[in-house]
Amino acid sequence: MADQISPEQTAREEDLIAQVVQSFENTPDERMKYLLQELVKHVHSYVRTVRLTEAEWNTAIEFLTRVGHATTRHRQEFVLLSDVLGVSMQTVAVNNEVYGNATEATVFGPFFVNGAPLIENGGDMSGGAPGEPAWVEGTIRGADGEPVPGARIEVWEADAEGFYDVQHEGGRVYGRAHLFADEEGEFRFWGIFPTPYAIADDGPVGDLLTATERSPYRPAHLHFMVTAPGYRTLVTHVFVRGDEHLGKATKDAVFGVKDSLIYDWSRHSADEPTPDGRDLQGKPWAGLHFDVVLAPGQAVDYAALME
Ligand code: BEZ
Ligand code: FE
Repeated sequence: MADQISPEQTAREEDLIAQVVQSFENTPDERMKYLLQELVKHVHSYVRTVRLTEAEWNTAIEFLTRVGHATTRHRQEFVLLSDVLGVSMQTVAVNNEVYGNATEATVFGPFFVNGAPLIENGGDMSGGAPGEPAWVEGTIRGADGEPVPGARIEVWEADAEGFYDVQHEGGRVYGRAHLFADEEGEFRFWGIFPTPYAIADDGPVGDLLTATERSPYRPAHLHFMVTAPGYRTLVTHVFVRGDEHLGKATKDAVFGVKDSLIYDWSRHSADEPTPDGRDLQGKPWAGLHFDVVLAPGQAVDYAALME
C-alpha cells in the first residue's frame, strides 16, 4: 500500500511526526521524553501502515471509552485489554530477562490479595475451597544451586468452579496463603488441583474476544510469587500438563503459558497414603513437585505496582 503514496503525501505525513516529536523536546525528564517520542513514532507508524480511516479511529475511541467505563475499583478493564493483547506478557518478558536456568515469570493477574493468611510449612492454603486436595512441594534455589532458606512464598488459585475467593460475595478467604521456605529452602503445602477458568468476558474486552473468535479461557494454574533478599522477585504459575486448553493454538487468553511452566501433576486414589499422613477422609488427591530457581537481583513490590 505504502508504494502508492506520493512523495508529497509522504513528506506531509513525516513532517507531522517530526513536529509532534519535536513538541516533547523540552521534557525535563529524559525517560519520559524518550517514552513519549517513541510512542508518537510507533502510533503514527501504525496509522500510516494500516491507512487508518477516520471511522476506524472513532470506533477505537468508542471502544476505549467503553473500556474506561467498565473499569471500577474492583475491575481493571484496561489491564485486561493489555493482557489479551499480550502487552502485559511482553512487559513481563522485558523485565525478567533470561538468566541461566531461572524459573520463567508470567502474568501477575488481578486476583492476588495482600495480607493472605500465613500458613506453616506443610499447612493448608486451600482454606476449605472446593476442589481435589493437592500436595505441593519443592525447593527454592538460586541460579548457582544454593538453597534460599526463608524465601517468602505467596500462593493463590481458583476453586474447582474456576472462581477466586474474591469473586464470591461474603468475603470468605480461601485458596491463598503465604509461607516461608525452611532452612534447606524447601517448602510444602496442601492446596487444590487447579481448574481452568474464563477471564471476565462480559465487558468490552469480552466483546473483542467474541468478535475475533478467541476463547476467554486460561488453562488451569497455581500462582506463585517468591521473594528473597538479593534475588529478583519471581511471579509465576504452574500449569497442568494435559489441560485441554494447552492443546489449542491459542493456549491462554492472556498468553501466560510457557512450556517450562507446564508440569506433570500426579493423581492418586483415596487408598494411597498422603505424603504427610493426612487423612483426607476418602478423597483422591493430586501431587506436584515444583523446584524454583531465582535469578539474582532486586525484590519488586508487585502488589504496590498493581494498586
Ligand atoms: C489470573 O491468572 O489470575 C489472571 C491473569 C490475567 C487476567 C485474568 C486473570
Ligand atoms: Fe489465575
